[in-house]
Amino acid sequence: MERKIIATSALPYANGPIHIGHLVEYFQTDIWVRFEKICGNKCLYFCADDAHGTPIMISARKAEVEPEKFVERIHKEHKKDFDGFFVEFDNYYTTHSPENKAFSELFFNRLNKRGSITKRSVEQSYCNKCEMFLPDRFIRGTCPKCKAEDQYGDSCDCCGANYQPTELAEPHCATCGEKPVLKKSEHYFFKLSDFKEQLVDLIASGYTQKSVANKLEEWFASGLKDWDISRDKPYFGFNIPGEKDKFFYVWLDAPIGYMASCKNYCDKNELDFENLWNSGDYELYHFIGKDIMYFHALFWPAMLLGADFRVADKLFVHGFLNVNGKKMSKSKGTFIKAATYLKYLDPEFLRYYYAAKLTDGIEDIDLSVDDFVGRTNSELVGKFANLASRSIPMLTGKLDSTLGELDGDGKSLIEDLIAAKDSIVGNYESLKFAAAVRQINALADKSNRYVEQNQPWAMVKTDLEKTRIILTAIINAVRILTIYLKPILPKYAEKVEKILNVESLQFADVEKLLVNHKINNFERLFERIDKKQVEKMIEESKNGCQASDKSKNEDSIEPITAECTIDDFAKIDMRIAKVLKAESVEGADKLLRLQLDLGNCQKEVLAGIAKAYKPDELVGKIVICLANLKPRKMKFGVSEGMILAAGPGGEDIFVLSADSGVKPGQRVG
Ligand code: 2FM
Ligand code: ZN
Repeated sequence: MERKIIATSALPYANGPIHIGHLVEYFQTDIWVRFEKICGNKCLYFCADDAHGTPIMISARKAEVEPEKFVERIHKEHKKDFDGFFVEFDNYYTTHSPENKAFSELFFNRLNKRGSITKRSVEQSYCNKCEMFLPDRFIRGTCPKCKAEDQYGDSCDCCGANYQPTELAEPHCATCGEKPVLKKSEHYFFKLSDFKEQLVDLIASGYTQKSVANKLEEWFASGLKDWDISRDKPYFGFNIPGEKDKFFYVWLDAPIGYMASCKNYCDKNELDFENLWNSGDYELYHFIGKDIMYFHALFWPAMLLGADFRVADKLFVHGFLNVNGKKMSKSKGTFIKAATYLKYLDPEFLRYYYAAKLTDGIEDIDLSVDDFVGRTNSELVGKFANLASRSIPMLTGKLDSTLGELDGDGKSLIEDLIAAKDSIVGNYESLKFAAAVRQINALADKSNRYVEQNQPWAMVKTDLEKTRIILTAIINAVRILTIYLKPILPKYAEKVEKILNVESLQFADVEKLLVNHKINNFERLFERIDKKQVEKMIEESKNGCQASDKSKNEDSIEPITAECTIDDFAKIDMRIAKVLKAESVEGADKLLRLQLDLGNCQKEVLAGIAKAYKPDELVGKIVICLANLKPRKMKFGVSEGMILAAGPGGEDIFVLSADSGVKPGQRVG
């Protein structure tokens, strides 16, 4: 019987590009949804951009556009990236929508009515200059533990300590540098503990994987705290009913965005939202990463229960992506944007590689570049595409493009392939994609062995009809393997379907033999990867600066700065300068004081490169200096210029140095 299913993936922030880390989840969900569809189930896949919050508001300001325009722009980019990787949503919407506003108000009113919302005064950091309360990540200062300067308000990048923003030494607003003050404001809180028993029951009923449930136990044990669901103006979000200057916190309306996307889809397709979302007619599954379990295993079901909506059947939690065994890193060039990947490599290679690594657990998966190149070439190209390219051109070239029947050996091969179906289906269904890929590979090996044993390239010289029988078995193997791989490789499957001259293949077609059938001409299915392509992609990613390592965090800043005109640029006077003297600055572990020779003058410059260079290394170096910078008064003295450097920060900053043959004072550019 046909099942009806709704699946969702977490909503990406409309604050930066999609990168290969995000894609783990979208591939996992998309593969599963495609699998359900080709099993004959009705499966709808909803997602949206997560459009609200302070970081997006600030990014829009930096880009000098209204936040509405900013998120529209990002929405288009995200959609293009997903299309490029064949992630096929039934609806990709936005949380900044009328449907989401209406639902958010409905949730709030229902929760309020049942007494699960409370109000109390909270004291928080406030910037008088920016006239706004500062989220933790918008406050910077010196780490209270290791004294590293310029750390975020909630954690230190140097020593990893977590703390309150009020514990920072020398705190300042990340936007304007002003010292924050403490200010009181009324906030709305959601009383999560009202739902403790229902949540405990939900988790006990198998709502999440066991490892997630264990983590949740710890949270239950430490007590469920009230959740602050309001933010003061200025904020990009929805007004709280009855309030002019207060808004819903982005995490309140974000999961409601799943429903809003579904509602928007229903309205566009004249379907009954109540039936889809709330009647139990459809199974409902959320796919998320392990960093947002708290929201999806506690707040979201509690909100749903309190507002009389059904809770999802299951929450599927996955791990993060590492590259070459480490966190993605901009300086290493492994923080790769989806759009950058697409410039160099076939999207299906990454879909396949992730699928080959994905399990139903929450362990991180590793993209090892060498392994990626190796597996792509040996499995996708060397096994699957090779099986087709060794058989199909021979049938079209020498045998009138027409399949024949199977003999005993051929039947036995095909029966083995068919016999694996239930187990492969079970692995897809339970998100054990790596196991499914292993099985499919073993079947491809068996099929390739059949080719070796029967040597059609030799037989075609002596016995055409026997060759047709052999090729019929091989091409049926290609067909079955293609069905098995279709959730992962939709484009590849489409090409094979066209060559085989068949309708869109489904799992139900596995057993239907293709015999005495005319096929179309062969077209190449995959090209081998040359490692150089990957190296170029990594090189480009080192230079790219759009994606942020912090992009999973709602309080991250993703700066897109305003345009500058050519006239603005012409004001810049860059000169060659020689470093005469370099010394550390007491009390500022990131700064060096440099004495520069600019030919006809000397300048003293304070440069934030102490983590990257020892003073001695710089003396005598020829660097590029922004010579006409208005002298800036800094805490540790006046800086009369700036030296140009590039890099992500910390140890990875590289001064731009000129040829030592040039003379100090010469103009650059
Ligand atoms: O962590 C994130 O990237 C969030 N934007 C996910 C939101 S998922 C859902 F709740 F909307
Ligand atoms: Zn400020």
